[in-house]
Amino acid sequence: MAELKVITDPREWQEYCISLGRGHSASWRTGGNIAAPGPGSSMEPGPGSSIGPEPGSSIEPTPVAPGGHNPHPLRAGVSGSGSSSPALRGLPSVGFVPTMGALHPGHASLIRRSLAENEVTLVSIFVNPTQFNDPKDLHDYPRTWDADRALLESLGVDAVFLPRAEQMYSRDFRFEVREAGILRAGDDSELPGDSPAGRRRTGTGDQGEAQAAPETPASSRQGGGLAGPDNQGPLRLEEPEGSRFSTQLCGASRPGHFEGVLTVVLKLLVLTAPSRAYFGEKDYQQYLLICRMAEDFFLPTEIVPCPVVRETSGLAMSSRNRLLSPRGLERARELYPILRGSKDAPRAVRELEQLGFQVDYLVDRRDLGPGEPARRFAAVVLEGIRLIDNLVLEEGA
Ligand code: PAF
Repeated sequence: MAELKVITDPREWQEYCISLGRGHSASWRTGGNIAAPGPGSSMEPGPGSSIGPEPGSSIEPTPVAPGGHNPHPLRAGVSGSGSSSPALRGLPSVGFVPTMGALHPGHASLIRRSLAENEVTLVSIFVNPTQFNDPKDLHDYPRTWDADRALLESLGVDAVFLPRAEQMYSRDFRFEVREAGILRAGDDSELPGDSPAGRRRTGTGDQGEAQAAPETPASSRQGGGLAGPDNQGPLRLEEPEGSRFSTQLCGASRPGHFEGVLTVVLKLLVLTAPSRAYFGEKDYQQYLLICRMAEDFFLPTEIVPCPVVRETSGLAMSSRNRLLSPRGLERARELYPILRGSKDAPRAVRELEQLGFQVDYLVDRRDLGPGEPARRFAAVVLEGIRLIDNLVLEEGA
């Protein structure tokens, strides 16, 4: 079995990914489309830095391959995904599993899937501070590097990226990814062909049953000058009250959480440039938002959802489970049967509260977008530990 490569420095990670034949040439190395950092910038390679390989070095960008394959897919403006994209065919497929460590069987299932579907499997372990709105939660988040490393080695992962916070967010860091709103033309029209993450059809996000916003009438969709290629009318992003999916469910009680998640995921995807990235469906809201971000930024990575892995009791595997006492863990095992068995959301809330759960939200959503089945989402707090779960609602539920 090949040895697990452990890389802590983002630039070194990017060089490693480039050496796999897939990574993007870094703007700090080439100038790219963005002005190269000036002298004194914290992004400027220091003396002895490995950035800026000599011609002929193994990390020199490979020339455009026969058949016109561009080794730098983002530059080609590829809007496809994974190895199905013509620009990426012929390159080794790279699967990427971003994590915050404290690995458990849920993570192992993502990694196994990546190993089965790709030639190379990469994992990151980074407890991302910007997605925690509670410093105590960040401090207490479990960190189990020795066990994580042993698991990654036993599974046969090729490399793990283990950066420090100050490396992912330099002193000059000043940009973040934020779900913006709805793109509108001069009148009330919307872009046709909207898809997941409830961009157009979002519910209230409040407790209980959320209502889908009505479809925009076809007549008004055609009326805003967006229908034809000649349209030069002004477009603007609007943010009607409660319309951003990232501010609902977990985003409502954890302000800034999804901005932190999306920002770090974009950074990791740009550094790694994988064919496929794997996300667990336990964090279904996160998954939908990441899909939408990948679409909006034309990322040439396929975002792959993986089913929730549960104990036999039904409890979803989570790094946070290990923060519960044995008694708390027993009680946590009541969550899934109630979520699954209750006829409606308010009844499930009552049952959970009677058992001592503090319910942050528990809501049925039927407005997640075309092709998305109705889903029940819940976040509860037990012994001060926040647990989330979701499930597809049976037809007619
Ligand atoms: O789901 C997680 O573990 C994290 O939110 C992620 C995607 C690794 C980003 O920090």
